[in-house]
Amino acid sequence: MSKVVVISGHPNLEQSYTNSVILERLSASLDSVDIRRLDRLYPDYQIDVEAEQQALIDADVVVLQFPFYWYSVPALLKKWIDDVFSFNFAYGPEGDKLKGKSLFLSFTVGGPEESYDPLGYNHFTIEQMLRPLEQTAYLAGMEYRKPVYTHRMVYIPDVYNKLEEVQGRAFEHAERLISDIIATSASAERRIRRFVADWFGQFDKLPEDGSYFTKHLSPHVTWVMPEGHFTGHEGFRQWYQSVRKTFEPDCQHNVEQLDIKETEAGYEVRLRIQLIANTFIDSAMKGRQIDMRVNETWQIGMSDEGEIVIYDYRVDSLKDPK
Ligand SMILES: Cc1cc2nc3c(=O)[nH]c(=O)nc-3n(C[C@H](O)[C@H](O)[C@H](O)COP(=O)(O)O)c2cc1C
Repeated sequence: MSKVVVISGHPNLEQSYTNSVILERLSASLDSVDIRRLDRLYPDYQIDVEAEQQALIDADVVVLQFPFYWYSVPALLKKWIDDVFSFNFAYGPEGDKLKGKSLFLSFTVGGPEESYDPLGYNHFTIEQMLRPLEQTAYLAGMEYRKPVYTHRMVYIPDVYNKLEEVQGRAFEHAERLISDIIATSASAERRIRRFVADWFGQFDKLPEDGSYFTKHLSPHVTWVMPEGHFTGHEGFRQWYQSVRKTFEPDCQHNVEQLDIKETEAGYEVRLRIQLIANTFIDSAMKGRQIDMRVNETWQIGMSDEGEIVIYDYRVDSLKDPK
């Protein structure tokens, strides 16, 4: 089971009827969960950025748990995002610390479902309201999961709803979230997505020691590149050394598309990658700046422990560098 961190953005859980129920259920049902109550940790809104970043680094799945306030997150959670998703952590040249982690938005909504409609009094759908948060996940390289939310969660005695109804809905909400988290973290797809993020993270750095790559390559791997065909670990090393002589380290591989299909032998992974890189002046690329896209197709196998091995790696449709 993956490690889950839940960031509770309710500004005062002592007065919550529903978020508090959801958090209790998560704590009781998930084995490996770190629930961070921002209202208790930071009543003065002074976020300990280092501690929060460490909690995110330690997790595979990040859940933002909050009541929907003015069509967004409460101010305390917004402050947390502003402070914690910082330069070179969540974005920027070294800002890859959240890459590949799953992000769930889990929240309670006061208004009924029919109000979040072009003809309703809230005019927009919930998904439309969530766009800035969705894009935040994309910019940080996170995997944005289908949000989990529940309507009619406001309880004002004798005015809105009955306590047992909102709490029953909170209970069901927690069960839905838990099953989505379990499905995400256990699935082969999730492992592959995580692996793809790590793999290109390493290719961004181009370390001298290429053992990370060979660890994930079959000893008989077929490596088919526009510049030639290579076989096995020795073939890979040869190709890798030529790449290191051409491209400067700290380049950028952006995964623009990722499709995973189960095959008889394992999985086929199809990718569209954008590569942005500087090249060495004494290389064949003569110091040119590269911004190009390639299509990749991998054939991979996965052990019972989830270890991934690539046995066929093809790169094609290389467009001319700009
Ligand atoms: C400041 C504030 C803003 C709110 N804004 C919205 C809103 O934009 N849309 C909505 O449907 N409900 C809104 N609500 C209702 C809350 O979403 C609802 O009370 C909350 O989800 C209940 O969670 P709790 O029981 O854990 O406090 C708002 C409530 C407050 C206090």
